[in-house]
Amino acid sequence: MFSPFLLDRYRRIFTEDEIKLLAKPMPKAIRVNTLKIGEEELAARLRDRGFTLEKIPWTRHGYLVKTCPLPLGATPEYLMGYYFIQDPSSMHACEALGPRSRDLVLDMAAAPGGKTTYLAQIMGNQGTVVAIDLSRRRMKSLRSNVSRLGVENVLAVRTNALSVENFGLVFDKILLDAPCTGTGTVHRNREAAIKDRGDVEKCTAVQGALLEAALGVLRDRGVIVYCTCSFLPEENELMVDRLLGRYDLGVEEVEHGEPGLTSWNGRELSPELRKTRRFYPHVHGTQGFFIAKLRLRKS
Ligand SMILES: C[S@@+](CC[C@H](N)C(=O)[O-])C[C@H]1O[C@@H](n2cnc3c(N)ncnc32)[C@H](O)[C@@H]1O
Repeated sequence: MFSPFLLDRYRRIFTEDEIKLLAKPMPKAIRVNTLKIGEEELAARLRDRGFTLEKIPWTRHGYLVKTCPLPLGATPEYLMGYYFIQDPSSMHACEALGPRSRDLVLDMAAAPGGKTTYLAQIMGNQGTVVAIDLSRRRMKSLRSNVSRLGVENVLAVRTNALSVENFGLVFDKILLDAPCTGTGTVHRNREAAIKDRGDVEKCTAVQGALLEAALGVLRDRGVIVYCTCSFLPEENELMVDRLLGRYDLGVEEVEHGEPGLTSWNGRELSPELRKTRRFYPHVHGTQGFFIAKLRLRKS
């Protein structure tokens, strides 16, 4: 089912049995929106409707939905903004950034707003999240999610994040959930199985340019979390390794997940990359995901 290009890469990361598990369907997960409701109250309401939930211990507000008698997007609780359907690895990226209530945060590729709204939640609706995305259609979804979830500290701007320096702002924290091949989402998107070299080259060009733009507007000692829903080292460790050679960046440990790769294709990468994290469907029950947390030193 995978393109020869992907198979070649996957055989260097996974066993044959693991490759077969990459596309296996997985239970969905929800994040309780504590801006609107307490966890116990929501869990009780959903249980009364016949849902079975299981707390995901390594996320702050995440639950696996084991039994789902209704579509998750069709309950009154969903429409009231009491929860968001979100992969646990995406929740973890926001938790890794650790935004505080007085921070000025940039979410650079923000739509439809899954991570923007979680950043706002962690910040207790205080401070400011500037949420940028290029897509008109996806920004509409972001605005509707922001409103449904009762988020009040987001400034949503449809623009090209490559020109973010024109805002004239310097950010405390930045999340770059980069546009990517999406190879980690093959369990719900079969097109992710046929990506080839050209797709990867297109994505890495944009990812590199977005990272440069982000570092240009991050304050000294500010933190950037870079993440993708891709298994491919070109979009993940190799991208970060190149940055480490050009900027004074400290790699900070992300709590959960498998350590990032420190060599690829016979090439040694920075040993610091072991502090980045990979998430795998067959290990973590999540989409394929990568998280790097970096602190910039300007002086
Ligand atoms: C992985 S998705 C973001 C998902 C989002 N962070 C969330 O959690 O809901 C990547 C996004 O990057 C946006 N994008 C691609 N190129 C961009 C650019 N140059 N400037 C701003 N956004 C861009 C796409 O429109 C897409 O919405």
